[in-house]
Amino acid sequence: MGKDVIVACDFASKEDVFAFLDRFEGRGRKPFVKIGMELYYAEGPSIVHEIKARGHKIFLDLKLHDIPNTVMKTMKVLSNLGVDMTNVHAAGTRAMMEAAIKGLTREDGSRPMLIAVTQLTSTSGEALKNELLITEDMEKTVMHYAQNTKTAGLDGVVCSPLEAERVHSCCGSEFITVTPGVRFADGDKGDQVRVMTPAQAKEIGSDYIVVGRPITAAEDPVAAYERCVREFID
Ligand code: C5P
Repeated sequence: MGKDVIVACDFASKEDVFAFLDRFEGRGRKPFVKIGMELYYAEGPSIVHEIKARGHKIFLDLKLHDIPNTVMKTMKVLSNLGVDMTNVHAAGTRAMMEAAIKGLTREDGSRPMLIAVTQLTSTSGEALKNELLITEDMEKTVMHYAQNTKTAGLDGVVCSPLEAERVHSCCGSEFITVTPGVRFADGDKGDQVRVMTPAQAKEIGSDYIVVGRPITAAEDPVAAYERCVREFID
């Protein structure tokens, strides 16, 4: 399993994402691209085919959460789209996650990587307790959901870089951690609160970092991407 920098292409339209990706044409390494709900729902499956045709790997971040049968059938569709990584909510239960793997697995036994969201980082400890009625604290809940994810046979979880070490110690070093919330040491934090630099994320053992605005909003996105690669991988 290789370490990589995943660029969050949080653009509203095909035109915007292609204007961004055009800058990487003929400039070496093609970034692993994250397509989120906004772009996918705006443009449909063709956006996946078109970005793939340009030679990028794709993480389709749709965070499925439904009954196992529906998730299984939907994953079959996503698998046929040829994405490289996709995800579900661990809150959908182990049965749902097992169904997701079944749906994703192609006839030849291959399948995209599948990871789970444990608790969204936007959920506060207070909301966990008072709205979701989960009485264990956030950290225990996140680690328990990560263990459920591993038991169901998934490849890893999305988590804060600050949780990556703990996830590895409770689920094993082979269990993938995909971590957003990455900023350059001299960069703007934006609305992210708990951040790490690519070099720190490497140090604590993140497997994939997800980087959006530090690359997409940079004056020279290719240089910003290459800086991430240098700090995180090289
Ligand atoms: O622009 P920025 O680097 O903050 O983008 C981070 C990406 O990671 C966004 O697509 C955001 O939705 C996603 N993400 C996150 N925090 C999470 C889960 C996903 O920032 N806990």
